[in-house]
Amino acid sequence: MPEVPPEPAVPAPLSQAGFLIWPGLLDPAEQAAWVDDLRGVVAAAPLVRPVTPGGRAMSVRMTGAGRLGWIADRAGYRYAPQHPSGMAWPPVPPRILALWRRVTGLSRDPDCCLVNYYDPGARMGLHQDRDEGDFGFPVLSVSLGDDGLFRMGGARRGDRTVSRWLRSGDVVLMAGAARLAFHGIDRIRPGSSRLLPQGGRLNVTLRVVAG
Ligand code: SIN
Ligand code: FE2
Repeated sequence: MPEVPPEPAVPAPLSQAGFLIWPGLLDPAEQAAWVDDLRGVVAAAPLVRPVTPGGRAMSVRMTGAGRLGWIADRAGYRYAPQHPSGMAWPPVPPRILALWRRVTGLSRDPDCCLVNYYDPGARMGLHQDRDEGDFGFPVLSVSLGDDGLFRMGGARRGDRTVSRWLRSGDVVLMAGAARLAFHGIDRIRPGSSRLLPQGGRLNVTLRVVAG
């Protein structure tokens, strides 16, 4: 008798501009549980509005969990072992680590769980995730709350882009050629989800920082 192949840990993703996307991978109950977990993260490490090295306040508010957090300030963009106010980052909630393991299949856990909050006017300009030490590791991103218009490009800033509305529960993996692809959020669609009582959009990004 042939062996029954193991169940894939996740269904087959769709691919857009090389980005792997699982629409609605998190069901509504899971999304609510993530929000509860993230409330704990935000209670331990409050959201802050970073100021870029150029001196502009970002419209997105950020915090994080894990060994390292991604921060921006007048000195630059980098990973730091402490929240800007000096406290250690809280641990990555186990449910969030479980999704990383399930989707990536990696035994190496992420160092950083970045939490971005978009209020109705917030956006994130086109950028690459390139402050990490080893681009062989993928970046995993989860959307919660209001829809966000995700722009996906190529390895060069001027490459053509395609856009897609990311909805609550959608999961995106940037791996391979898409690992260093430009991406950003043009805008959110306020009121499109009732997951967050205060409205807005949360994005959780998991990354391995050190090789
Ligand atoms: C990011 O690239 O850091 C955030 C992407 C998103 O909000 O979906
Ligand atoms: Fe990014």
